[in-house]
Amino acid sequence: MKEKESLCDAPIGVFDSGVGGLTVAREIMRQLPNERIVYFGDTARVPYGSKSPETITRFSKQIARFLRTQDVKAIVIACNSASACALDALEEETEIPIIDVVRPGARTAIEATHNGKIGVIATEATIKSGLYKRYIEENDKCVSVVGKACPLFVPLVEEGLWEDPVTDEIARRYLVELIDIDIDTLILGCTHYPLIRSTVGRIMGEKVALVNPAYETARELKRLLEKEGMASAKKPELGTEMYRFFVSDAADKFREFANSIIPYGILSAKTVNIEDY
Ligand code: DGL
Repeated sequence: MKEKESLCDAPIGVFDSGVGGLTVAREIMRQLPNERIVYFGDTARVPYGSKSPETITRFSKQIARFLRTQDVKAIVIACNSASACALDALEEETEIPIIDVVRPGARTAIEATHNGKIGVIATEATIKSGLYKRYIEENDKCVSVVGKACPLFVPLVEEGLWEDPVTDEIARRYLVELIDIDIDTLILGCTHYPLIRSTVGRIMGEKVALVNPAYETARELKRLLEKEGMASAKKPELGTEMYRFFVSDAADKFREFANSIIPYGILSAKTVNIEDY
């Protein structure tokens, strides 16, 4: 175990199947400006949402092992599909704290709803796991949850079609059944979806509160680091690289995309052979 002081200086590991987790990384940068981040995007194997829980767990374990080689002090699973399928397996195998995005998002939605009807849009893997529904209904017996898988959203986001008639049309088809059952709160249960938040918001109407789990995830990370005495008290020395990015493929494409999301110039993204871990 590292000494507390050097542990405070260690970075946070953040991972996703691709670029979606950048919406969580961005929130961590905003709320925890002293913390360094090592981000891994599994761009060679995206999407996760259409894969089996076993495969998603195997991929997530490899990434956690890679992040450990970067001496991270905690890991944020910035992917709902991996959070839903692999959290328990990662906690078993890793001795540093791990934070997922599902539970913080679920808690925020319980606080936000007035009529007790919550919708969740997510990948097939997340919806099939039933975790949002189970967690919310266990924690508040008066609330009911309806999930809707939206498998085309991830490729649309990755293609940069955030504001596009095609995305609009597909979103209308997916969301109509949630509008019909009168939900008042909708969880954006995939870290890619905040990038099409305005399309989803326009279709759902202003009476429906949209929940982006990234905000509460970053808050939870902050609480945890402070409680464990692991928070970085000051900005790292000048010249220290605050944010480092790794991917499993197509580093240039990732860098370009990341630069459109993250408000700090991303100098480089390195490619890692993740199957080696
Ligand atoms: N961004 C991920 C999530 O939150 C997964 C997208 C995908 O790879 O299917 O579920």
